[in-house]
Amino acid sequence: MQFDVITLFPAFFETALQVGLIGKAVEAGLLRFRVHDLRQFGIGPHRQVDDVAYGGGAGMVLRPEPLVAAIEQARTEARSRVVVLSPQGRLWTQARARQYARECDQIVLVCGRYEGIDERVTAYWADDEVSVGDYVLMGGEVAAWVVIESVARLIPGVVGNPESLTFESFEAGILDYPQYTRPAVFRGYAVPAVLRSGHHESIERWRRLQALRKTFRNRPDLILTPRWTSPPVWWAWMAEWMEWVEAILEKMYPAPRSEEAEDASDHRPDRNEPTSEGPSGCPPR
Ligand code: ADE
Repeated sequence: MQFDVITLFPAFFETALQVGLIGKAVEAGLLRFRVHDLRQFGIGPHRQVDDVAYGGGAGMVLRPEPLVAAIEQARTEARSRVVVLSPQGRLWTQARARQYARECDQIVLVCGRYEGIDERVTAYWADDEVSVGDYVLMGGEVAAWVVIESVARLIPGVVGNPESLTFESFEAGILDYPQYTRPAVFRGYAVPAVLRSGHHESIERWRRLQALRKTFRNRPDLILTPRWTSPPVWWAWMAEWMEWVEAILEKMYPAPRSEEAEDASDHRPDRNEPTSEGPSGCPPR
């Protein structure tokens, strides 16, 4: 995969490209990066890249000429996508990272700054406009890095153990389960006993329930928004979660045993029958 980044701050990417799994993947030739300094494409002796907004308003807008010159230089592969990073873009998700990893040989990332970039660049030279979340950053560099990492780790060979990609947050449609390591007890807080039991089935079940619990607490939208695209494992886990909730409810409010139930129904007063209890079945005060 070839990544091209167009930015006013090339230094931002210098260290990031050398460290961790990305650094290793670059060394191994699995990923290639080119960082294009937008200033080099600037206009006139001052290499101007921005100007005031038509229609007025505070802040400067990136001019189209330097951006388009940089895009035209950067785009070299047939299966490439030019992506403008902007808070007005479509939300970046794991599903889209997967799609890019599958469909592209090259991703050209255009980092905006100031009040944004001239809309003609987004409309006519970009294939996609991407936002990494509902907040405003000072520029597109951090957002570009989010796109780079999330796509890069899906390229075969970049992450050591491909199994670790399958069952983690978002791939299964829910968040990941909590992880623990040594020591078994830290400042009085113990690792859940089931994880030390060596009983694989119980561990699997515990992890699935914890994953659902975390998702319910932190991202209820993932569970409560039914998505027909949710993978089958999501539906299976939901069924399991419902069973778990039912088991808890059963403990809290045990259903009467059949004999008791019959007794109860025998003695249930007629709705209009006067009774010593209140109308709701509560004892009188
Ligand atoms: N630039 C500024 N904010 C951004 C965001 N949320 N996503 C992508 N690019 C941005």
